[in-house]
Amino acid sequence: ARASRLTMRKRSPFPKCAGEIRCLFCQAAESARPSSYHFFNEPAEVSLFRSRLLRWYDQSKRDLPWRTVAMTETDANIRTYAVWVSEVMLQQTQVATVIDYYNKWMKRWPTVQELAAASVEDVNEMWAGLGYYSRGRRLHQGAQKVMSELAGEMPRTTQGLLKWLPGVGRYTAGAVGSIALGLVTGAVDGNVTRVLCRLRAIGADCTSSLVTDLLWEICNLIVDPERPGQFNQALMELGALVCRPKSPLCARCPVQTHCHAYRKVTHSLPHTRELPQTFQSPCVPDIEDCSAGDSSCKLCLSEGWARDLGVQNYPRKPVRKAPRVERMVTCVLRCRMTEDEDEPQYLLIQRPSTGLLAGMWELPSILLEEDIPGKKHRALLSAEVQRIVGTSPDEDSFQYLGEVVHIFSHIHQTYVVYSASVGGSTERDREPQSRWVSASALQEAAVSTGVKKVCELVHVLTGLRGLAPCRGLKQSSLSQFFTSSKPAST
Ligand code: ADE
Repeated sequence: ARASRLTMRKRSPFPKCAGEIRCLFCQAAESARPSSYHFFNEPAEVSLFRSRLLRWYDQSKRDLPWRTVAMTETDANIRTYAVWVSEVMLQQTQVATVIDYYNKWMKRWPTVQELAAASVEDVNEMWAGLGYYSRGRRLHQGAQKVMSELAGEMPRTTQGLLKWLPGVGRYTAGAVGSIALGLVTGAVDGNVTRVLCRLRAIGADCTSSLVTDLLWEICNLIVDPERPGQFNQALMELGALVCRPKSPLCARCPVQTHCHAYRKVTHSLPHTRELPQTFQSPCVPDIEDCSAGDSSCKLCLSEGWARDLGVQNYPRKPVRKAPRVERMVTCVLRCRMTEDEDEPQYLLIQRPSTGLLAGMWELPSILLEEDIPGKKHRALLSAEVQRIVGTSPDEDSFQYLGEVVHIFSHIHQTYVVYSASVGGSTERDREPQSRWVSASALQEAAVSTGVKKVCELVHVLTGLRGLAPCRGLKQSSLSQFFTSSKPAST
């Protein structure tokens, strides 16, 4: 059936119609189907592609903890749970960052039952620094649903995964289904999108439904029915290690001969028009361009080929909306309850239980309306501290420390950072959504990466004992605080 799907192309019932004047049947078939240039049409090419990709994966894949579980865990319920956790963590987060979080999570909650029994607060703490906090809460809610509605049995089909697990969409269902359960389905994430767009020279907006539907169709067609989970991970791995967004390593690509983008690059250089024999495969048809012609094809590059970009002409994405710019004034407020108390405490406030960073803890902060002059910051902070703890240091004792830039996916946030101390006469319980924590508790608390960066600035500048870099943050040099870095998710 798979082979016949591969070769099944609509043929005109009129044998002579392929000339200049095309019959209605041909026109309809052509408009319904993308040009074969953007697809995998030959079963032989698909087989060769699979075997080349999987051979490379077997030799080059990274050892990742969830891969070990997927390969060695015999209990399908634990396998599905473990791969689900990994896939949710890997949504929008780099593999290198996830590994540590994943290992700690699985050590603490090795089964869906144990996760379901955890508190939201524990889940938030465990997730702190990983970003997109709703993901952790959704895992927790999903685990509780599996316990209450499925008697602890993880779903075993992609439809079941989509239906029962909050936050699981088409990609995660495909990834978990194929990796943990061996279901023969594709899984199209950002890496796979890039790989496929390059392989098939798809230059239309890769976020459009025209392209995403086609990518899913391609992926469902080429996935290896014998090793679907490893095939999908091999495509992801190729995207991560070789077919990288920038500086792709085409010379090391195991499926270079299948790549239309690569062919375009090499064919546009006069001296490489003839590819060496070793690069030619008899099973890869020598199609140089889309038969529909770039200008009329909806899948080709709409804005031409930029020579200097090479294969990086693909994929094309719409220009992102500029992030919202926000300035917050914030304060690390330190309290020594008694003179001889050796461990100072720091004030944290809990965010509302819905919305951005729901339920997470943060430092007292105020969003700065436009054109609030710097000299008003101390007054704003003093009023806020007064509101929360019933007392406040003098405005003048708020010490200005600097600015920390933190870039969320959609917000460019600058924290204007102050520090101050209060004595022991605070009303600890005046504001129920606040708490005083020791420096070590602060490091473990459910705080965002922005807050971690602020604490680190305070540590670097003032040497406040205990406010060392938190989990999930690397030790930074001071200069890093004053420059914007790449967008983060937390
Ligand atoms: N990204 C998403 N899923 C992944 C996986 N299983 N391995 C590596 N990277 C991934």
